[in-house]
Amino acid sequence: MSYAHITGWGKCIPPARISNDEISQLVDTNDEWITSRTGIKSRRVSHVSTAELATVAAKHAIACAGIDAKDIDLVLLATCTPSTMVANTASLVQKNIGAIGAAAMDTNAACSGFLYAMQAATAQIQAGMIKKAVVIAAERMTWYVNWDRRDSAVLFGDGAGAVVLEAADTPAGLLGTKTGCDSEDRDILHITNFGSDIDKYSPAGPSDLLFEGREIFKRAVKGMSEACDDVLTQANLSLDEIDVLVPHQANLRIIQAIQHRLKVDDEKVMVNIGEYGNTSAATIAIALCEAVEQGLIKPHANIMSAAFGAGLTWAASYIKWGDRVKPIAISDATLPPCEQSGLELVAAAAAACKQ
Ligand code: ACO
Repeated sequence: MSYAHITGWGKCIPPARISNDEISQLVDTNDEWITSRTGIKSRRVSHVSTAELATVAAKHAIACAGIDAKDIDLVLLATCTPSTMVANTASLVQKNIGAIGAAAMDTNAACSGFLYAMQAATAQIQAGMIKKAVVIAAERMTWYVNWDRRDSAVLFGDGAGAVVLEAADTPAGLLGTKTGCDSEDRDILHITNFGSDIDKYSPAGPSDLLFEGREIFKRAVKGMSEACDDVLTQANLSLDEIDVLVPHQANLRIIQAIQHRLKVDDEKVMVNIGEYGNTSAATIAIALCEAVEQGLIKPHANIMSAAFGAGLTWAASYIKWGDRVKPIAISDATLPPCEQSGLELVAAAAAACKQ
């Protein structure tokens, strides 16, 4: 039996941020409401494309793993904000990182995308089809945001995270996983006026991100908790054997509800929503990376992760960490400098939304 060890991890956090006080200049909201209802204090706005965010995160993960990019067999990019659809965005990332000849594919399961992609890449390694993969989740969610709608404007941010997976004989990596989709209710979270269903010669207006927050909240807690239960049973793992919980970062209250249902102590839960908001597929990839950097993930840690997103897709995963929590090498990859503040970056879009 082959396994797919996580041997490298990396992230890319764009520098420009918008605080809650600043976002109150765009929509009728305030720091107290956002903090108490969501746990979010600020979010990042990217001055570069999704492909560039993904490239920097992937380069850090590859250096961390100490591998040559030329040896990568698969570049799998989870995103619902691709830079380009044709050619796919993963092909540009493959070119940028020098993974010459590797398969390159985008995958979209919205906020569940990283765990879906982990499952797909792990399965290919376990089946012996490939030996090394880089799995990236990168999003530019602020591109979708309607800066005239306070419900969504406060929630989303941009960023990327990545892991390198390598074939190995010992049990570690993704050891249990469950993915699914409740498509009956796909309309409660969707983006309008986007895709080949629209009349491209007379579009009905700019695309907009619409959701029923309370309904999603309930379903996210139920869906992620039940998926975690399934994975724990599948992996024959008890609740007290969970060392770290790395949940999707959509709302601090959702995270706390899942934490309580799984009876996981505060110090075992990775939370960074306060700083970044909801970066869709990228939340878990970034949180996993930061959990290692912050020492929360120790060698051989049992990690539970769960996600919920548009579709309504859901996923839960049991990941066994390997021996190493230190990078083999550090990449010097960075984004180009950003001269503008977060508010300046969104000014033109905010003005257009209000027309
Ligand atoms: N600032 C101030 N007031 C606001 C804001 C805001 N940014 N947004 C909504 N309100 C108001 C509403 O208008 C409403 O006012 P009313 O009572 O006078 O009508 C009141 O606050 C309560 O609104 P609710 O939508 O019921 O607020 P809730 O407590 O449910 O919080 C939230 C909304 C944060 C979206 C929550 O439902 C949530 O986190 N849902 C799940 C996450 C989600 O939907 N994320 C987007 C999808 S992506 C994903 O990751 C699944």
